Amino acid sequence: MSVGIDEISFYTSNYFLDLKTLAQVQGTDPDKYYTGIGQEKMGMAAPDEDVVTMAANAALPLVEGNGRDQVSTLMFATETGIDQSKAAGIYVHRLLGLRDNCRVVEMKQACYSATAALQMACALVARKPDSKVLVIASDIARYDLDTPGEATQGCGAVAMMISANPRLVSIDPEVGNYTEDVMDFWRPNYRSTALVDGKYSTKIYLKALKKAWDHFREVSPLDFSDFSHFCYHLPFSRMAQKAHQQLVRHTKAGLSAEEQERQINKTLMYNRTIGNSYTASMYIGLTSLLENTDADLSGKRIGFFSYGSGCVGEFFSGTVVPGYRDALHLQRHRDMLAARQEISHDEYLQLYRNQIPDDGGEHRFDEGTTGHFRLAGISHHKREYVPR
Ligand code: CAA
Repeated sequence: MSVGIDEISFYTSNYFLDLKTLAQVQGTDPDKYYTGIGQEKMGMAAPDEDVVTMAANAALPLVEGNGRDQVSTLMFATETGIDQSKAAGIYVHRLLGLRDNCRVVEMKQACYSATAALQMACALVARKPDSKVLVIASDIARYDLDTPGEATQGCGAVAMMISANPRLVSIDPEVGNYTEDVMDFWRPNYRSTALVDGKYSTKIYLKALKKAWDHFREVSPLDFSDFSHFCYHLPFSRMAQKAHQQLVRHTKAGLSAEEQERQINKTLMYNRTIGNSYTASMYIGLTSLLENTDADLSGKRIGFFSYGSGCVGEFFSGTVVPGYRDALHLQRHRDMLAARQEISHDEYLQLYRNQIPDDGGEHRFDEGTTGHFRLAGISHHKREYVPR
């Protein structure tokens, strides 16, 4: 019996800022963003959107397809937590109408936690093969204005149904891990934007990749040549290119630049126009690979490198299942991205400053999202989520 990803669906806001617009206002060469960091647009959450509404919007097509009653556990990965105590997934559980004997939990370790959720979900399904676990990763990446991180913001959520004999990707049990206590990127409880030591964070990412790969090689019979494609955590697309170049060097794989590019370029397509979605980004990258590769990927092995600042890195592997195309949500994803609305720099600043208040007051939010669920307001310290 294999265990893995049976279905995958993502959601992002209907608003985006073109990084050419940001570059123009800053007096920066747009190629720094388009080429230097490999990003073209970044998603900006609407005033009535947060990680809960994005998560519910990502997951709705999966529970409609699979039946609400089949989900035994919902794992919600995020580093944009809205409450120190209550799991964000509990709101999603209600919005999706999941059964009341479904377990719900929130997971955190920066951008890595969706991978922890995926691995734990696979373990739960292996123990009880007739169960399904819904893994959702949802984040809004926010940095201070006028910092190098500003151009790498974004927002998105991804939902994955984990089951026995999955239709998309079976996940291998062997994993390579690396953990080290470092301060490359973090967000103390009193801040709404992340603090980051940008250059250092990219170095630590690359170090964690090497270490996780070395550990993977100790525990798995697979070598570099067994993989046809690689999905990396995507804070920005260029990071994956740097990571892959390093892995190719480290493994002495001796691939041409074109070969290297072919192994990752389709994973970057959605991210280039959504921006960083932290926990969700690598899995939106996987969706991009499956939905945008013309060649049949059936039976192909994919290598995954998941990274969460602070830091934890994990290298693991999976195999694409024959017939996977029938289980994709390709047209819905393409339609959603095509229907997004470009915003001006002033509108961007307005959305940036319009973030959900944490002042304990009474608030109603303007309608902005085009998703199925919205955050209508906050009253008596309680967020009010409603179908739209
Ligand atoms: N044309 C083409 N390329 C250009 C250019 C131009 N006109 N101007 C600059 N570039 C290139 C530079 O040469 C550089 O390329 P290399 O990295 O290959 O040398 C690239 O564009 C970026 O330029 P800078 O190094 O000058 O960029 P910066 O210092 O302003 O910012 C950054 C880069 C530090 C990554 C910044 O975007 C940042 O802090 N981002 C947030 C942190 C981050 O994402 N870290 C990633 C690892 S941590 C992680 O993965 C967790 C997470 O999700 C945050």
